[in-house]
Amino acid sequence: MRDSLEFISYSTEETQRLGIQLGKLAKAGDVMLLVGELGTGKTCLAQGIAWGLGIDDYTLSPSFVLIREYQGRLLLYHIDFYRLDSIEEVVDLGLDDYLYGDRVCVVEWAERALPVLPEEHLLVKLEHLGENERKLCLEPKGEHYEELISELKRRWSSL
Ligand SMILES: Nc1ncnc2c1ncn2[C@@H]1O[C@H](COP(=O)(O)OP(=O)(O)OP(=O)(O)O)[C@@H](O)[C@H]1O
Ligand SMILES: [Mg+2]
Repeated sequence: MRDSLEFISYSTEETQRLGIQLGKLAKAGDVMLLVGELGTGKTCLAQGIAWGLGIDDYTLSPSFVLIREYQGRLLLYHIDFYRLDSIEEVVDLGLDDYLYGDRVCVVEWAERALPVLPEEHLLVKLEHLGENERKLCLEPKGEHYEELISELKRRWSSL
């Protein structure tokens, strides 16, 4: 796809670095939906995003916490739907207040709730290629995220 960005990461650090760039570019209200199997690096990318937002107390806690909040340059909500029982729960829990606010939302296991998540978002698909090799495909959904990807490509090429 013309506007998407495909990236092969060969280490945890490389995935974190991509996250840092995303965190630096993030704007208030941005929604980043991470989809991919267990251990593909969603949390690792989210950690980088947090660092890029200037959050240094980001902790790798287990997936049973649905929402964690961090204050950086912007407020970050890290949402993890791994243990989501049903899609209705997203609405029942009032998650819309988080998802449509002026914070940055990073959602792991977003495929479990796609129909009730914001239509415009940055979709990040992660795939396992080898022990330390991952494919990350960033697909912008909406004009705002197309600009984000263009800017990311510009910065990436000058790194
Ligand atoms: N290139 C890479 N990018 C990211 N993680 C990698 C890479 N190579 C190896 N790893 C390892 O893969 C694991 C990724 O774990 P992480 O918790 O980020 O995955 P996840 O997608 O969030 O999993 P879960 O579905 O359980 O939440 C870590 O142990 C990390 O060290
Ligand atoms: Mg995770």
